[in-house]
Amino acid sequence: MSREALIDSLGRSQALLQALVEDADESAYRKQHHSELSPLGWHLGHCVYNECFWLHEKLRGDDSVTAPIEDFYTPPRTPKEERGRRLPPREDLLTWAREMQAYNLHYLRKLRPQLQQHPLLRDDYLIHFLLQHNSQHYETMLMVLTQKNLGDYTPAKAAPGALRAAELAREGIDIPGGRYRVGGERPIAYDNELPPQQTELDPFRIARRPVSNAEYLGFIEAGGYQDQTLWCDAGRAWLRTSAAAHPDHWRRDANGDWQALGIHGACALAADEPVGGLSHYEASAFVRWAGAALPHEHQWEVACRLGALEQTGRVWEWCANSFQPYAGFSPFPYDEYSQPWFDGRHYSLKGGSLYTQPAIKRPSFRNFFEADKRHMFAGLRLVY
Ligand code: AVJ
Ligand code: FE
Repeated sequence: MSREALIDSLGRSQALLQALVEDADESAYRKQHHSELSPLGWHLGHCVYNECFWLHEKLRGDDSVTAPIEDFYTPPRTPKEERGRRLPPREDLLTWAREMQAYNLHYLRKLRPQLQQHPLLRDDYLIHFLLQHNSQHYETMLMVLTQKNLGDYTPAKAAPGALRAAELAREGIDIPGGRYRVGGERPIAYDNELPPQQTELDPFRIARRPVSNAEYLGFIEAGGYQDQTLWCDAGRAWLRTSAAAHPDHWRRDANGDWQALGIHGACALAADEPVGGLSHYEASAFVRWAGAALPHEHQWEVACRLGALEQTGRVWEWCANSFQPYAGFSPFPYDEYSQPWFDGRHYSLKGGSLYTQPAIKRPSFRNFFEADKRHMFAGLRLVY
């Protein structure tokens, strides 16, 4: 992609962030709707701050924009619970965001010749990074809107087309064993996708499609949430404290049938659509019930590259393995993007959701969350 086209994409990612805040009421803008999520307005400010940090503070050593807001927009420095109270009025934030974002695009288009040689700009690395960072926070903002709708929900009228349970399809495609390449490429890849790896895989059979809503309802109706033998120790503890008995965004309608809540409110659950709203614990209990397994992330990536997988990019797909660095990993562009999360408590997710922007949908992309998290549109696919 030419630099011009890439800067245009960055501009479109900025516009998406702005639009969500333009459409937000005060509660969506300022309130914290989930313990894991910041208020909507903070995400816009954080993305603008991040652009200014790399383009002005890092590239040309001018911290006049970033220094006064550094503490507020650097995640570990301001707890999520304080972010709403400290946000500026919505119109003020929007005006500042629009001005700075437009200035940043202009700055990139008119980059001074001596900066063209800066290591961060080699192959337009920094522009790719900013585009992807905005895209990731856009998806997180859609999680905020979903959680807001869940909080506002009152048991509704019957949804059209009630979901009925279905037998597990058990359709798989056989992938031969062998040595395969996984991993990403500069300048697009994040640090955790590099360097590319050779991976040695035994033959395996992987489901062509993720587990569907109808198949997951089969697990619920078979008593999957009650059968203690399906859950690991940590999963059982999570079940007790969360009292979970269905995916995060499923609710019963007036008839007792299941419907879903999304960014636009209540909607019917399509039988064939991949199930989402699951923790790693639920995904693991499901695979045990099914007599199957979760894929290792390398199995997922290899099968995806071979064209074996259908319905990718509709839900993030939990993998069996925890998120770990590749051999030869080195952190960039900053230490905290991946490094702190190689703690054995985060699991890899692959593919992307319906809410994931194209800029971060690729076979090598690795998302990562702790096993008990289920606000990020995650489902699963089986390996036999
Ligand atoms: C990779 C999605 C877990 O949202 O916390 C955004 C991505 N890192 N800004 C997150 C991220 C810095 C990260 N996840
Ligand atoms: Fe961020």
